[in-house]
Amino acid sequence: MLSPRVVSLNSRFERSEYDHYHRRMKRAPKGILPVIAVDRRSRTPLYRQLYEGYREAIVERRLGPAQRLPSTRGLARELGISRIPVLGAFEQLLAEGYFESRVGSGTFVARSLPDEPPAPAARARAVRPGRRPVSRGPEVLLRKQPEPWAAGSGAFRTSEVAVDHFPFQAWSSLLLRHARNPHRSLLKYGDPMGWRPFREAVAGYLRTARAVRCEADQVLVVSGSQQALEVSARVLLEPGSRVWVEEPGYVGARDVLRMAGARLVAVPVDDEGLDLAAGIARCPRPRAVHVTPSHQYPLGVTMSAPRRLKLLEWARRSGAWILEDDYDSEYRYESLPVSALQGLDRDSRVIYIGTFSKVLFPALRVGYVVVPPDLVRRFAAVREAMDIFPATLNQAVLADFIEEGHFARHLRRMRQLYRERRTALVDALRDELHGVLRVLGDQAGVHLVATLPKRQRDRGISLSAARRGLWAMPLSSCYLGKATRQGLVLGYGGTSAKEIPGAVRRLRSVILSE
Ligand SMILES: Cc1ncc(COP(=O)(O)O)c(C=O)c1O
Repeated sequence: MLSPRVVSLNSRFERSEYDHYHRRMKRAPKGILPVIAVDRRSRTPLYRQLYEGYREAIVERRLGPAQRLPSTRGLARELGISRIPVLGAFEQLLAEGYFESRVGSGTFVARSLPDEPPAPAARARAVRPGRRPVSRGPEVLLRKQPEPWAAGSGAFRTSEVAVDHFPFQAWSSLLLRHARNPHRSLLKYGDPMGWRPFREAVAGYLRTARAVRCEADQVLVVSGSQQALEVSARVLLEPGSRVWVEEPGYVGARDVLRMAGARLVAVPVDDEGLDLAAGIARCPRPRAVHVTPSHQYPLGVTMSAPRRLKLLEWARRSGAWILEDDYDSEYRYESLPVSALQGLDRDSRVIYIGTFSKVLFPALRVGYVVVPPDLVRRFAAVREAMDIFPATLNQAVLADFIEEGHFARHLRRMRQLYRERRTALVDALRDELHGVLRVLGDQAGVHLVATLPKRQRDRGISLSAARRGLWAMPLSSCYLGKATRQGLVLGYGGTSAKEIPGAVRRLRSVILSE
């Protein structure tokens, strides 16, 4: 479970949602009681061990008010001890008010105990520094400052998609098909690369829709782009390997690469995508490069054909790996989706990464990697060592969802819906903020960038916007180094066309009063 501290740093997870689940989940699930261990060889009497075990479970809220306790006879049987110490402990806990008994229904944790756990400071035991060594890997993640503008939710949140338009009817009947009478192969340990029929479906889709050159054997199923990068980093990088990342770029990718020990080199993005010459000037021989060529994140540039060919040729000569992150390119509004870079690769340099987070919904946690044939065994071995194999049920449902045409239908409908939302946003920005904001990258995906005049600071605007119920990510937060542009990254995937004009008017008043 996420701790509140993590939540405060995690812009994708809303506090209200967390609170809701926290209230429900902080106690032991119904019917499950915390383990109270007794040690028969200990010098502490058994009744005392039981008394202290229960008292601690109550103080730490592993047992909540009014929770039913086992019978003394049942507990004694379960612990393999006589009933006498159990009766002694229960009597003491009743006397001190931790337990209460109700005639005819048994013994319960007292109802009157406060619901909230004691403040962490009061519970924490003092630990001498240096006594509990931890890895330095995650240090880079903790160094990040919490972003106050990201605390709430609201219109333009970038990680959202139109979940209310998801075909739940079709999805639930497929889910039921597999859950009600599951094929035995769905219930056993499976292939580290993923469930074969799903990998076939993904390979077929990628060949047709994304011009990816692949066979099902090359498809590795993962829990999303994030895990795809984690596995790739373990296979391809050494601690200290240099990796080019786009500037501005995707923070999620940087985090996982840094955690793997990579040294990141920020390479600027121009009108044609990653500026290859600038990258070579900064670091001529990186081990790998992370790119979003179909729809650069966040600027929305599509990498030009000459730049793609030059990047592949350079990778071939320099020996660098290309991590192609193709996260949302199914949605392109003025033309057909741009083919993947991987399809042009003749040297098996590209590791192609895709996800269902944008095209379906992020909580599905399903993505895939297309691995060059000669690396398949390595990727599979790393995947197996990490978490054995991906959960099968969703793969089975997704395979049918693709094969039976629901996926293609959903994509068509969503393309139309997002086109309307995109147009509503571009029109409203033009009407309300003409000459103030410049729109970039609105041809594809589910977000665009609106750049601000140089003198305006985007973080201040994002914070004021958050106070007005908007979630407008500052472009400067996507920079590894000093931001050369100020602007707002505005998502429209989860913001309806009806909401957009009002939200843009609020944004206007925020920007003009800064
Ligand atoms: C560039 C980029 N890659 C990938 C993702 C999706 O990541 P995942 O598949 O881990 O949900 C996102 C989501 O915002 C993204 O912006």
